[in-house]
Amino acid sequence: MLGQGVVLVTDHPSRSAVHAEALRSLTPCTVAGPEVEWSAHAGVAAVVADLDLNRTAAMQCLLALRRQPWAGALPVLCLMVRGSDRALRQAHLLGAAACLPFYTEPHVVVTAVLNLVDPDQGGLNATIRRCAARAAGALGDLFHAAAQAGRLDLAAVDRSVDPLLESLREGGLARWLNTLRAHDDVTYRHCLVVAGLAAQFAAHVRFPLAQQRRLVRAALVHDVGKARIPRSLLLKRGALDATETAVMRSHVELGHAILRASPDADAAMLDAARHHHERLDGSGYPDGLSGEAISDVARFIAICDVYAALTERRPFRPAMTPGEAMATLAGMGRQLEPGFVQAFGRAILGSV
Ligand SMILES: [Fe+2]
Ligand SMILES: [Fe+2]
Repeated sequence: MLGQGVVLVTDHPSRSAVHAEALRSLTPCTVAGPEVEWSAHAGVAAVVADLDLNRTAAMQCLLALRRQPWAGALPVLCLMVRGSDRALRQAHLLGAAACLPFYTEPHVVVTAVLNLVDPDQGGLNATIRRCAARAAGALGDLFHAAAQAGRLDLAAVDRSVDPLLESLREGGLARWLNTLRAHDDVTYRHCLVVAGLAAQFAAHVRFPLAQQRRLVRAALVHDVGKARIPRSLLLKRGALDATETAVMRSHVELGHAILRASPDADAAMLDAARHHHERLDGSGYPDGLSGEAISDVARFIAICDVYAALTERRPFRPAMTPGEAMATLAGMGRQLEPGFVQAFGRAILGSV
């Protein structure tokens, strides 16, 4: 039970019903519309807002909350329809402590509320969250530089690598992945998940430390070409048409070009960025490489990348469980290196 419970304020009551139900497993949850009388809810532990922040009534609702004398440090979690920079900035200006897509699975919303209400839970979670925030911040700088200047500040990669390795050392892979679930930028989150998986995998197969770092750095930048893909396409719900698919696929060549323009990029980064969607049977892109033509680095990152994608939530399908994702990987025997897939399974399944 958290304080006086939580208020879920929504202009989509039917959509919010699953979140209200999940929150009630934790604490009393009052569902209200944007016209809610906040003074009646002094003492609540948190507010979850599933509101269209483009609407005046929704904005006024959150502004009225901020005017309450008791609401100073009250955590507000916004469930968002749009994940654009502008929408996220607006939500934070209106007092959101965190933002998640509106389709976020209910148990993840509950975890996010718990984390917001009790950020020092066990100390360890707070450390890992701080590491994740530092790593994501550095990755944000990296993608920004890639989008603006077309090349990377490789020092920013290292600013992500160290907090990531520290987190894994402190709390293990499961906590790292759990912490990232609440991160609101889908591309950074994906890169940090792939890098965490790569770190776990590389440590499990006892690569030398220098090689572990090389693989983690390559994993962090494998999708850097997405910095140059329109955000509307990255966030599109539902299937892509042929033109959109071609644009999306160009992220591998864009990423390779960005890294080639970055003097400190090493061969593993260039290889991972260009070839992580190649498949052993030649069905991948952009070069249709097959068999021996695909390097170990590209095979290794490809497995982490596919597993990450399968276990990520998407607007149009639920996330797979680790077991389901591993079964899917094992079924891709002609596309992914079977020996690596088995080793990856052993590295991951005891840890998530
Ligand atoms: Fe990719
Ligand atoms: Fe990826």
